[in-house]
Amino acid sequence: MNFTLSEEHKMLQTMVRQFAENEVAPTAAERDENETFPRELFDQMAELGLAGIPWPEEYGGAGMDYLAYVIAIEELARVCASTSVVLSAHTSLAGWPIYTYGTEEQKQKYLRALATGEKIGAYGLTETQSGSDAGNMKTTAKKDGDDYILNGSKMFITNGGIADIYVVFAITDDSGDRPETTAFIVESDFEGFSVGKKEKKMGIRSSPTTEIIFENCRVPAENMLGELGQGFKIAMQTLDGGRNGIAAQAVGIAQGALDAAVDYAKERVQFKRPIAHQQGIGFKLADMATAIEASRLLTYQAAVFETEGVPYSKASAMAKLMAGDTAMMVTTEAVQVFGGYGYTKDYPVERFMRDAKITQIYEGTQEIQRLVISRFLTS
Ligand code: CAA
Repeated sequence: MNFTLSEEHKMLQTMVRQFAENEVAPTAAERDENETFPRELFDQMAELGLAGIPWPEEYGGAGMDYLAYVIAIEELARVCASTSVVLSAHTSLAGWPIYTYGTEEQKQKYLRALATGEKIGAYGLTETQSGSDAGNMKTTAKKDGDDYILNGSKMFITNGGIADIYVVFAITDDSGDRPETTAFIVESDFEGFSVGKKEKKMGIRSSPTTEIIFENCRVPAENMLGELGQGFKIAMQTLDGGRNGIAAQAVGIAQGALDAAVDYAKERVQFKRPIAHQQGIGFKLADMATAIEASRLLTYQAAVFETEGVPYSKASAMAKLMAGDTAMMVTTEAVQVFGGYGYTKDYPVERFMRDAKITQIYEGTQEIQRLVISRFLTS
């Protein structure tokens, strides 16, 4: 067991931290306000090799491990949660299933384009009536010659509209007791694909979240990902890793909020002393730092498990559960440390607090994480 980062991981951390502080942080508030995510920002990340951190070099990736990936997500989230989720959905939710289940041709065509950052990826599972009950989807895919014809729509799609490649799940046969679900790789310029309503959100406002619509969308059968009927399993396994990306995002948001709160508490003088040296605030900061460290350890552990081939479904669910709740607690307390100033947009902590909330909701609500964990304990 090793609790210190390797030189390679430290170098990546420093590189992403500098990039985040110099290139991402300066525009974070403005992008949050305007609800925009410029493609150039993604291109800059790609230039640094961040678009395919865990994918082998033969597919255009950086050939690093999942620990490197979560470190990068954490560093981005420390200044801008939106930027971190754009990269997280791109990597965990689009890259991972193609890397794991794609044919060699699919990997050369799609994973390479994602890993080099030439294309942006997204994942389409959720529908209006199927959120936590992900299996209850209605989107269908019917065989027609050498193609599948997709009909239906998906909602809350991170990277909707900016993505070029979508990993999508659809029902290929609903005649049995349980519908047969299959995964497909859909390109944004396929006939019958369109982007619907863009959500106006409380937080992560710079990252686009949209509906995607399939109206007789023609997808070549060669774009089926994995086997017929394997879709639900692929969707669930994809989320196992994705949840750890969200845990890393939550750790980053919390760390950003703590850093801001510590700096402010050291400067802010009330009753003739910096508030950091008054026990009510000092203890608060200590609790915040401790919860972040525990969350980080769970997150790094799940990433190491994934790299080493150790089952990580429960570990990821625990990491997200702990880190999501920590992000919410820490950001709320950070606003409290700032007092009235924290409630204004003059400081980033109100944005961190709004951004933190989604980490308790997406890629499985906290209740779903508890369901996953409890099933491991009781089955
Ligand atoms: N790995 C592999 N297989 C899995 C699996 C996993 N982690 N979880 C389930 N499966 C398999 C089961 O083994 C079972 O297979 P068999 O039929 O062969 O037995 C099959 O899938 C069905 O499993 P369940 O009976 O457990 O399915 P369920 O209907 O009870 O649902 C659930 C389980 C955990 C509640 C699941 O529906 C779930 O995770 N829901 C939450 C969905 C979610 O996280 N959505 C997030 C949307 S994406 C998003 O938020 C992205 C974003 O924008 C950033």
